[in-house]
Amino acid sequence: MFKEKTIVVGVTGSIAAYKAAELVSQLKKKDANVHCVMTKAAQAFLTALTLRTLSQNPVVTELLAEPQRWEVEHVGLATAADLFIVAPATANILAKVCHGIADDFLTTAILATKAPVLFAPAMNVCMYENPVTQQNLARLKELGYFLVEPEEGDLACGSQGKGRLAKLEHILARAEELLVRDKPLQGKKVLVTAGPTRESLDPVRFLSNRSSGKMGYALARQAHLWGAEAILVSGPTDLAPCPGVHCIPVETAEEMYQEVMKHAADCRIIIKAAAVADYRPKERKEEKIKKQAGELVLELSRNPDILAELGRRKQKGQILVGFAAETEKVLDHAAEKVRQKQLDFIVANDLTKEGAGFAADTNIVTFVFPDGSRKDFAKMSKDEVAKAILEEIVMRMDKE
Ligand code: PMT
Repeated sequence: MFKEKTIVVGVTGSIAAYKAAELVSQLKKKDANVHCVMTKAAQAFLTALTLRTLSQNPVVTELLAEPQRWEVEHVGLATAADLFIVAPATANILAKVCHGIADDFLTTAILATKAPVLFAPAMNVCMYENPVTQQNLARLKELGYFLVEPEEGDLACGSQGKGRLAKLEHILARAEELLVRDKPLQGKKVLVTAGPTRESLDPVRFLSNRSSGKMGYALARQAHLWGAEAILVSGPTDLAPCPGVHCIPVETAEEMYQEVMKHAADCRIIIKAAAVADYRPKERKEEKIKKQAGELVLELSRNPDILAELGRRKQKGQILVGFAAETEKVLDHAAEKVRQKQLDFIVANDLTKEGAGFAADTNIVTFVFPDGSRKDFAKMSKDEVAKAILEEIVMRMDKE
């Protein structure tokens, strides 16, 4: 999303200015073309040299300095930008932009740009809560500027409350959203399942599988970026909930079934990337199972097949996509499942291939359709696989 995008990072005079260095570094790692602009106060907290080194571009610190190119620099940058991120944003810059004041390079460029401008405020809690700042923030939103709210916690000034710069991952997630202008899933509700389920044997042990949730989380995040209202029903994972996605945590297949059925009827698109346990222990012991002489035989009961039930309840116009995780006869099993479960298509992944399936950051998939046709894909990141799945879905909706 950030690749080759021109991003202007504005840094203003807050103790959180040092975090701008990490922001710039992360944007560069994502292949963005980053230009930094520092206010005079920002330069008291962080050097231009740091940002110049990290961004690999000259840093603008003065409005009326001798320009490095022939064009009016603030207009040049304002026109070239795909996005402005002002992080940290002080009460002062918020007030100035709110009132159209253009007395330095940053405020002038913001006034001149047509690109989205994202502010990440950071300041003392009393300054943040001051009605003047709150009015300015409300007005900025009305004017079409974007905000990432500060977090609560210990502040550098010694007080506690709201005013810490938002986590960089939240700033980046919001920035990514703003870079996606085309929102083909706007107004659509998308339900995604992710992760494993856990089926308890006793208070300390459970049956589960190796799903990390990465595939499902990538799908929910991309659906959100494409404008959808994304609901993610997730089994236990180590992943942070995707900002902007409504995440519903569950543990067992039965809980996943209940949550999916609660939301399914309202969703235009349902994608089942979760690795649901087919079986659960017939009995969950109240106390820890003790070692005993000889073997321990476990009796298992079948879990509901959530996807098959969704297929039975499928509504007109609803798009239902499953996954098939297989270790042999991958495409045959996938073809059987796509028909049995009444899916629009199934995403087959061969778990024996390196870089495919569980826990990897990449996947190698084939889409299998009910008429027997197929689309093969090379190894891609799970984000890219998610985009390919959504593209296929959008194409099918356009044909209806
Ligand atoms: O989470 P990651 O580490 O990123 O790994 C990704 C993945 C390998 C889990 C994912 O790409 C994947 O293949 N998910 C489906 C795994 C699976 O359970 O496949 P299956 O062939 O057993 O099930 C077929 C389909 O039926 C799946 O869409 C599954 O969600 C669904 N199902 C299965 C059993 C069940 N009781 N209820 C279901 O809804």
